Amino acid sequence: MSLTIAIDGPSGSGKSSVSRRVAAALGLAYLDTGAMYRAATWWCVQQDVDLSDQDAVSALVLELPLEMGVDPSGPTVHVAGTDVGEAIRESSISTAVSAVATNLTVRDEMRRLQRAIIDAERSGGFSSGGGVVAEGRDITTVVAPDADVRMLLTASEEARLARRARDVHGADDAAAVDATRDEVLRRDADDSTVSQFLVAADGVVTLDSSGLDLEGTVDAVLAVVSQ
Ligand code: CDP
Repeated sequence: MSLTIAIDGPSGSGKSSVSRRVAAALGLAYLDTGAMYRAATWWCVQQDVDLSDQDAVSALVLELPLEMGVDPSGPTVHVAGTDVGEAIRESSISTAVSAVATNLTVRDEMRRLQRAIIDAERSGGFSSGGGVVAEGRDITTVVAPDADVRMLLTASEEARLARRARDVHGADDAAAVDATRDEVLRRDADDSTVSQFLVAADGVVTLDSSGLDLEGTVDAVLAVVSQ
């Protein structure tokens, strides 16, 4: 039976690692929608476009030659045939991505592409039975409000900063957390028009992962899915 799972959450909530593990555990495809906004940003930077020029950014993103690989054991992102999986995680892209993601034409186009991927996976793309775990910031509410399971993954600011520091700096001591604080909190603020995490929408299950490790969070999500 085909299963669509939508997971939203802010930076450092653990949604990417958790969603990937959940997809692998259930044999489903995995779609990282944040990677799509990052890829769009990478492409605009590559083409030397002024990111505050909304029309120029829109025109470029409407022609974005993007290919998403949805195997949870090795998801891939290619732009114009170039593997950008690592480049899109660089801090220059993390700093710039909100400017591109808040462009309404970009959002419409990304959502269209995301729905097309989700629909293709629903009817059996990567997984033989069909199905996908899609994660991001507006999946439970806008992209796939009809998903079978919708979850909002939250975590305290302290837990989010420590996780992000471990991801980016390989440590969660005070210096690493400080180095991460500005990026995470500024991006939370820059993203505030596209994501609303204070209250889950109707029918969306909230899971606070502050006190859980990766395995514990994956188990908690799987428990909700099997209900
Ligand atoms: O680094 P982190 O996991 O927090 O973010 P991400 O999931 O890689 O998403 C990068 C950026 O893409 C976010 O900061 C948002 O600006 C944007 N985004 C969005 O607007 N809508 C989504 N569904 C997913 C990401």
